[in-house]
Amino acid sequence: MRVLFVTSEFYPLVKTGGLADVSAALPLTLAGLDIDARVMLPGYAEALDRAVHCGNAVPLGELPGAGRVRLLPAQCPASGLPLWLVDCPPLYCRVGGPYQDPDGRDWADNDVRFAALSHAAARVARGGRGMDWGPDVVHANDWHAGLLPLLLGGDPAPRPATVLTIHNLAFQGLFDADRLPRLGLPAESFSPDGIEFYGRISFLKAGIRYADRLTTVSRTYAREIRTPEFGCGLDGLLRSRAGDLVGIPNGADYGVWDPARDPNLPRRYDLANIGGKRACKEVLQRELGLDSAPDAPVVAFMSRLTEQKMADTVADAVPALLEAGALFALHGQGDRAIERRFLALARRHPGRVSVEIGYDERRARRLLAGADILLHPSRFEPFGLVPIYAMRYGTVPVVRRVGGLADNVADAMDRGDGEATGFAFSGDSLADMEACLARAVAAFRQPVTWRRIQRRGMSQDFGWQGPARDYLALYRSLAGSRADRCPPEPVRRPAPQSAGPLTRRPDPVRAPLTKA
Ligand code: ADP
Ligand code: GLC
Repeated sequence: MRVLFVTSEFYPLVKTGGLADVSAALPLTLAGLDIDARVMLPGYAEALDRAVHCGNAVPLGELPGAGRVRLLPAQCPASGLPLWLVDCPPLYCRVGGPYQDPDGRDWADNDVRFAALSHAAARVARGGRGMDWGPDVVHANDWHAGLLPLLLGGDPAPRPATVLTIHNLAFQGLFDADRLPRLGLPAESFSPDGIEFYGRISFLKAGIRYADRLTTVSRTYAREIRTPEFGCGLDGLLRSRAGDLVGIPNGADYGVWDPARDPNLPRRYDLANIGGKRACKEVLQRELGLDSAPDAPVVAFMSRLTEQKMADTVADAVPALLEAGALFALHGQGDRAIERRFLALARRHPGRVSVEIGYDERRARRLLAGADILLHPSRFEPFGLVPIYAMRYGTVPVVRRVGGLADNVADAMDRGDGEATGFAFSGDSLADMEACLARAVAAFRQPVTWRRIQRRGMSQDFGWQGPARDYLALYRSLAGSRADRCPPEPVRRPAPQSAGPLTRRPDPVRAPLTKA
């Protein structure tokens, strides 16, 4: 079984969030299950620098809007996993992030940049000249690869099966309709029954509409996105495809996220030897300039600072936390106004509040290891990797009951004392968050209870083996029917995708491309 995994991020080459972690860990686990998995991603400057290059470039010819493009065979420097970097320096080699310039503005040609990714993958899938490898299954991820199922959808059978994984429905890749000819897309696809979303081109809708199968990254999110509250205007289409949509939870790569072997920690530890965590806390408090009070719980907030992550409400909750005797430490970046609010809190409460704006993997892990509580509330959360990483580091998560967080964190109030791995709240008000934090801080002051919750979290197995087997079963079910695959029938007309009344319309539509 050969699988082409198409993504815009890959750890450790380029990362703005959890997609990078999944893109590195899932294909690697599949490779361990005897799948010939190859990952394709744009040849960003940092990816070209960090990858191990091997073999000769494969010319792909001209791609729409992109000019001449090549594929560079490479390997992941950490795992040796085979990669293909789409080489087109004018599109990808720029100073800035994968989606934005250094001032936080989306690159104006993001449509061409990510259409080129899908066109390059389609050429490989069709077994173009110079290609000695062709996939049975093409696995597209998020809007960045959303055009790929559309491009392959009209090909005659047999063609590779297409799977689209939705990591975050809030980022849709919306572009003006007049860009259509530049993107090399069939004109007839631009209709409400195709890729049109309120008069614009939607890359994510293209994927949802044309992929043979759809997956998303938790069971609860798979249900939520079929409702107007979480569907970001695509819930009607998702309901019409409900039979092809499945939630397969993400996993944690314990080869990377494990305090027993994490080289970034001042002291390593594990379940049997949890004393090292105390040392990590002392070092953290010193490094961050926090008061050296061992009895004060250190509450960490480590995430993109966006509305999705309720970062605004977290800033409101800090005074009550301090009042309860906790210390607060933030590592992350995002919305500039939210960053400024946290920086002001740090100035107002020296020794009690530490704020590091930016993202550095080493510092992020030292924070996870040294903290007692991880605050990770979200207005919506497809999966939420950080809380499951935190559990392995013995850091107890406080989350909101949405998406993957609802599936992964067990609150004593829901499942009884003997099952608890963290604390969860349901509402979305400051009072709801504060009440939940108060319960966590009170539990921290009861060492026996706390140790029990901590140990249960550390012994959870969120490894990739189970999820990878679920993907494998999905691929097999599709590859088996390869010869019969026909161009897609028009889907049943979705329920009207009215813009309202959404009770909550998340980041998406305001800033569809902005990830951090
Ligand atoms: P999301 O993908 O929505 O950001 P996840 O919790 O699933 O949320 O994954 C976050 C991943 O990105 C983790 O590996 C975390 O360490 C990392 N991360 C957290 N904050 C940032 C940030 N500001 N910039 C880049 N990566 C971050
Ligand atoms: C997205 C989601 C996050 C998920 C990650 C990886 O960025 O916001 O919940 O864990 O993708 O699937």
